[in-house]
Amino acid sequence: MNLGMAPGAIDASAVYYDVSKLKMVRGEGVYLFDELGQSYIDCASATFNLSLGYGHPAVLKAMREQAETLVHVTSSFQTDVINALCARLVELAPSGMSRVHLKVSSGSAANEGAIKMAQRATGARDVITLFRSHHGQTTMTASMSGNAFRRAPLVDVHPGGLLIPDPYCKRCFYGQTPESCGLVCVDRIDQFIEFASRGDVAAVMIEPISGNGGNIVPPPGYFTALQAFCRERNIKLIMDEVQTAIGRTGRMFASEHFGVEPDAITLAKGLGGSGAQVAGIITTEELAGLPSSEHSFTYGSNLVAAAAGLATLEIVSQESFLKNVRDTGDHIMRRLRASLGTCRNVFDIRGVGLMIGVEIVDDSGAPSSTLTNHLANQAMEHGLILRTSRYGRGNVLKIRPPLILTIAEADLICDRFEALLATELS
Ligand SMILES: Cc1ncc(COP(=O)(O)O)c(C=O)c1O
Repeated sequence: MNLGMAPGAIDASAVYYDVSKLKMVRGEGVYLFDELGQSYIDCASATFNLSLGYGHPAVLKAMREQAETLVHVTSSFQTDVINALCARLVELAPSGMSRVHLKVSSGSAANEGAIKMAQRATGARDVITLFRSHHGQTTMTASMSGNAFRRAPLVDVHPGGLLIPDPYCKRCFYGQTPESCGLVCVDRIDQFIEFASRGDVAAVMIEPISGNGGNIVPPPGYFTALQAFCRERNIKLIMDEVQTAIGRTGRMFASEHFGVEPDAITLAKGLGGSGAQVAGIITTEELAGLPSSEHSFTYGSNLVAAAAGLATLEIVSQESFLKNVRDTGDHIMRRLRASLGTCRNVFDIRGVGLMIGVEIVDDSGAPSSTLTNHLANQAMEHGLILRTSRYGRGNVLKIRPPLILTIAEADLICDRFEALLATELS
């Protein structure tokens, strides 16, 4: 490190991991600015967490005020801000949910907590997840997420994960069409339990729409069938809404779109509004009671982060705000389907609200992560930050900008996206 030099001149030689050559210096709304003054519309909302964009004034004000009062106190004491955040989340959650566990500060830890709660409530152990799921980077959540490449580096895979095919109708694992479907992917779970589990299943953990796995939107009826399946077998249904909650799909929780009343919902990312580190688990009364000694983290229930969460909920819970998410999302999908629907390299454009994926194929029609990654890299030249599915191994470009997006900004995203494909695919 070059101590004594201007902050802008410090290089990244001491940074452990690989970083881009670009240095970012400022963010405002949906825009991120690099040190040369170039601006980018951030279609990844940073790490899919800036629901209110960069530097939302109401979130910053709430954080500043809370920081001047009390930054942190051990979570075994009560505070107004934590009580208020728990109460507000219960008010907004799907019916039947009555408790909130905030002693976590990441989506991975929220998911592990929900799994422990389900195991404790049922006395069973195994957890069913989907092939393309992403539930976190801890050993337990990486073991229980889909994708072989995630388990490959682990010394020991955490036991108890049982992976099943996704409801990915465009590439149905069971070779069905929408006409023949019959929700075979739910029906067959019994066979996975009988032949591939340890015989007792505590939970199904599922993202309502896959965040990392390719923006897969389950077909109508999937969640109704899955919920009934779980209830009949006393398997707890955990909705991993780390990416989909807090308005991302145009409803406070994506579970609402599918009429699901889960046993637990896990939250993180968007709850922090403009980047505060806040996460949690919302549960039914039945899942309450996991002792603190079994799941609590020092930086969980941080008061400044909770103040950001409360300010974020106040804004996102307004119906006009959620309607804007639905309208801007529909606008982008309608425009891109009209302009790119016949492009031979665009296999599908899908999504709900501002959780949109564009599936890319090569000229022969095969999924192409090479082309997808190339397009994401080149997007920067067009002033767009786009990320790809499955940590660069997938073939879906994600369009998930901050939810404060206006129609004019949505049009700008489409202009730049269309220009990108016109340049790179011609
Ligand atoms: C659906 C989902 N679950 C869990 C996680 C893990 O969250 P965190 O990175 O906060 O541990 C992520 C992160 O990308 C996610 O998208």
